[in-house]
Amino acid sequence: MKRTLGVCYYPEHWSPEVWTQDAARMAELGLTWVRIGEFAWSRIEPEPGQLDFDWLDRAIDILGSAGLKVVLGTPTATPPRWMLERHPDMLALDREGRPRGFGSRRHYCFSHAGYRAECARIVTLLAERYGKNPHIAAWQTDNEYGCHDTVVSYSAAAREAFRDWLAQRYQSPQALNRAWGNVFWSMEYADFAEIDLPNLTVTEPNPAHVMDFRRFSSDQVVSFNRLQVDIIRRHPDGPIAHNYMGREVAFDHHAVGADLDIASWDSYPIGFLSDRLEASNEHKLAFVRQGDPDLQAFHHDLYRAVGKGRWWVMEQQPGPVNWAPYNPAPLPGMVRLWTWEAFAHGAEAVCYFRWRQAPFAQEQMHAGLLRPDSKAAPGFAEAAKVIAELSSAPDAGTLAGDVALIFDYESAWAWQIQPQGADFDYFRLCFSWYRALRRMGLNIDIIAPGADDLSSYKLILAPGLFTLPKTLSALLAAHVGTVLCGPRCNSKTPEFSITPPLPPQIPGLDCQVTRVESIPPGVQVDLEDGGTIVHWWEHVEGSAHVVLGTRDGQPALVRAGKLHYLAGWPDDETLYRMLKTLAEGEGLDVLDLPAGLRVRDTKTERFWFNYSASPVNFGDIELAPADLARTPR
Ligand code: GAL
Repeated sequence: MKRTLGVCYYPEHWSPEVWTQDAARMAELGLTWVRIGEFAWSRIEPEPGQLDFDWLDRAIDILGSAGLKVVLGTPTATPPRWMLERHPDMLALDREGRPRGFGSRRHYCFSHAGYRAECARIVTLLAERYGKNPHIAAWQTDNEYGCHDTVVSYSAAAREAFRDWLAQRYQSPQALNRAWGNVFWSMEYADFAEIDLPNLTVTEPNPAHVMDFRRFSSDQVVSFNRLQVDIIRRHPDGPIAHNYMGREVAFDHHAVGADLDIASWDSYPIGFLSDRLEASNEHKLAFVRQGDPDLQAFHHDLYRAVGKGRWWVMEQQPGPVNWAPYNPAPLPGMVRLWTWEAFAHGAEAVCYFRWRQAPFAQEQMHAGLLRPDSKAAPGFAEAAKVIAELSSAPDAGTLAGDVALIFDYESAWAWQIQPQGADFDYFRLCFSWYRALRRMGLNIDIIAPGADDLSSYKLILAPGLFTLPKTLSALLAAHVGTVLCGPRCNSKTPEFSITPPLPPQIPGLDCQVTRVESIPPGVQVDLEDGGTIVHWWEHVEGSAHVVLGTRDGQPALVRAGKLHYLAGWPDDETLYRMLKTLAEGEGLDVLDLPAGLRVRDTKTERFWFNYSASPVNFGDIELAPADLARTPR
């Protein structure tokens, strides 16, 4: 596979005279891909039914004739203003029932049938016109499903669709009442038509009600995406991708990904560090111009699975962004480092967002590869450097991980619905386990709970899994390597209840969680090895062997053979020690990397990345800040 670079471009933002120069410059830089179109609906269809494809024809022709391959986005994330006249009720409603107004983007409700029909219409027009265009080499559906918290909508359209969804799932209101436990607080329904969305209730709604609403909302994204995919596929040419986000868990990405050919994601390391990550102030300051050393890698490893092996970075931060509370510039070298890190994890392509900084509107403070005056911004030279380096770095293929971390979207919803402790967050829990593995220099796959072959993994980790599907529990019980299930694992039924026997009910492991407690900041449970448990603690009973206990003699880590259960949320150092012992027990080569130094192997090379702002020495490796090295494996 050839590793390639690209850029996001908005011809509609510039006068047509500039397109030719831009295209020539992109080609001269050595870019392969140019993504266009994803917000251009008001220019493609300025008035209902009045279509103007001439400018897009020309733009595609100019870009393609310069040798670039075009990724064409469907413009459905930004319905134009006239759409509201046709469908006044298409707006998503927030939890308070307020419409999410026009004037930015993503204001549509996924459940609105009229808007879906408009999307089908515009996508059909695009697919018919460009499906066989030789310059269109890939498609992108919509833009960042879920961005700006837009998966869940409390509209009338959503309510009607939810009632249908429930009727299909439960067949009768009585079955639903039983499943949800609606006898509690006299919440029983006599008809599906009586069921409202779970907002505006006096106090918290039934968690089972909310859980089904979250499942339903995720399914609406899947079917919305599938509608577009089915249309594009009728006019073949080019793989279909969607650009997912960082730390977005509101819909099941695997379910959307099942319909697509490529997963891609939008990587903004510095923005994410300040606005999407729990970390100490000290950590945030140490990586303020580099981004967290593990957050990008987490998503690379996650989206590799979502894309069934094929994935890109569709938007790569090229300089300061505009949307975080503070927006510092990357340390010189970081744009190159981020790009190479994606390739080391198996990306086929990395595209920068965006070509030229926009002089107007919301993102005028967001850097591009070019400044608003078309001179090169600092990111430009770094992209050029990567392109020069790519010729001497053939990709030998992605290496499968030694360790699997199971990541489950339903679990993320479950613990948002019922955190039980204010700081219990599923992503945070999984990410803390991932970080420990990265510090050991291990190659990790982040996999879905439905993965059917786990046999190649030396170590399988399942923190916080809401339910343990039968097939997965059988695979874990039969696994020859080490398995570690973490706190809250299998602690509920899919209907969101604690139905005895008590959890975690992992075959072969005699251990029951009899009581749980969340732990406020500043409080801890002390372990006999000097470590601590924070955030979450469980009292367990059973005959499983106690590997590690608390100072006062309660089990914290238990096992039967190589099947382990961890009854709490350890602090980072304790977790690191624990996972290190398990990894070494499986013969894995643990590195103990210094802060900021990270590695990822391909089949032939080891990549070393220095995320820190100072030079790092580690064995034979010496790296300047924001630099990287490759050593043969
Ligand atoms: C992404 C989005 C882009 C742009 C970018 C700015 O989330 O897909 O359209 O807004 O952020 O960083």
